[in-house]
Amino acid sequence: MLAGKRILLGVTGSIAAYKAAVLVRLLVKAQAEVKVVMTPAAGDFITPLTLATLSKNPVLSGFTNGNSGQWNNHVELGLWADALVIAPASANTLAKMANGLCDNLLLATYLSARCKVFFAPAMDLDMWQHGSTQANINKLISYGNEMVSPEYGELASGLTGNGRMAEPEQIVSRLHSFFSAANRLAGKKALVTAGPTYEAIDPVRFIGNNSSGKMGFAIAEEFARQGAEVHLISGPTQLDLHIPNVKISRVKSADEMHRLAMRYFPETDIAVLSAAVADFKPATMATQKIKKTDTGLTIQLVKNPDIAADLGKIKKDGQYNVGFALETENEQANAEKKLLSKNFDLIVLNSLNDPGAGFGHDTNQVTLISRKHEPKKISLRGKKEIAAELVKIIIEDIHA
Ligand code: C5P
Repeated sequence: MLAGKRILLGVTGSIAAYKAAVLVRLLVKAQAEVKVVMTPAAGDFITPLTLATLSKNPVLSGFTNGNSGQWNNHVELGLWADALVIAPASANTLAKMANGLCDNLLLATYLSARCKVFFAPAMDLDMWQHGSTQANINKLISYGNEMVSPEYGELASGLTGNGRMAEPEQIVSRLHSFFSAANRLAGKKALVTAGPTYEAIDPVRFIGNNSSGKMGFAIAEEFARQGAEVHLISGPTQLDLHIPNVKISRVKSADEMHRLAMRYFPETDIAVLSAAVADFKPATMATQKIKKTDTGLTIQLVKNPDIAADLGKIKKDGQYNVGFALETENEQANAEKKLLSKNFDLIVLNSLNDPGAGFGHDTNQVTLISRKHEPKKISLRGKKEIAAELVKIIIEDIHA
């Protein structure tokens, strides 16, 4: 359940900071991606080196990175995380969180995070019982944050009472429950085609296109993050994805992509056809490298199979197909026509007229046209954000 999830761990200045090392270890073992932010005081209790080594990521503490002039962007960190876990959460940090103070990187990240926030208080029993601590905690819970309650037991001060941070295993188990409920595509199978196709002319040459595959890979990743089991069929790209519930099949030609897509489609719940499949291929492939001649060369092209249209023909009730359209004129009308002719449930209209959109870029600008909604225009954004929007709409549609 935690595989591929992005967990941002905030560590504050409490003796329980030593338990953060175990927490990171458990999260990494569960295949979560972990980044750690420490408050300046946390460094008195545990070294950044320990947490950086265990999390396999640099540990961030200040707003800037030494004298490098590099800024640690708290907004980006907050957007990156699927969950922010503050463990241990000291009385001081809880008080600042409750009142919107942001005089360190962790607090600024908390204030700008859009994800679920968990906090595991750790303090001595009198601090825990104090009216102001309890008021701060109630306020934080009323804002939608979730507390992993401290336990009763022996405290670092030698006193016995409430205030001991919950054990790392318990925090992980809370995250498990949270993500199982949030995994809205659990049990669903998704098929994604991505990248270009290469149509062989001879053993060393081909007809291809500039598709990078970035959009399709981002969609596959987002499906996996929502709990789906993903089969990504990719044409030749430089990209890779190491997420346990994504299987990648690499192909070259449209025929190969077509064969695999047709084979896996019957067991698929959602198919997203984002590959830039060549419409034509050479009628024959020369078995030897074609020699240079003075008279030029004519290559006869024949039609490739239309993968999306063929899947649309065998689509059954309950299956949901998404296509892409790259149009240069009468954009919306042409995309709507394609939505019907290929039996898509949703079509993503790419606009090539906008700078930064389309092939090869990290950004895109699209309009999502679904059978169930009014068209939704998404302004220029990162392809990962577009993938998140697209998957969100697919989820709404299939649960509608
Ligand atoms: O007809 P057109 O090529 O514009 O359609 C684009 C959509 O159809 C995309 O979703 C693309 O992945 C898919 N397609 C396909 N097989 C083809 C051509 C396009 O799956 N041979």
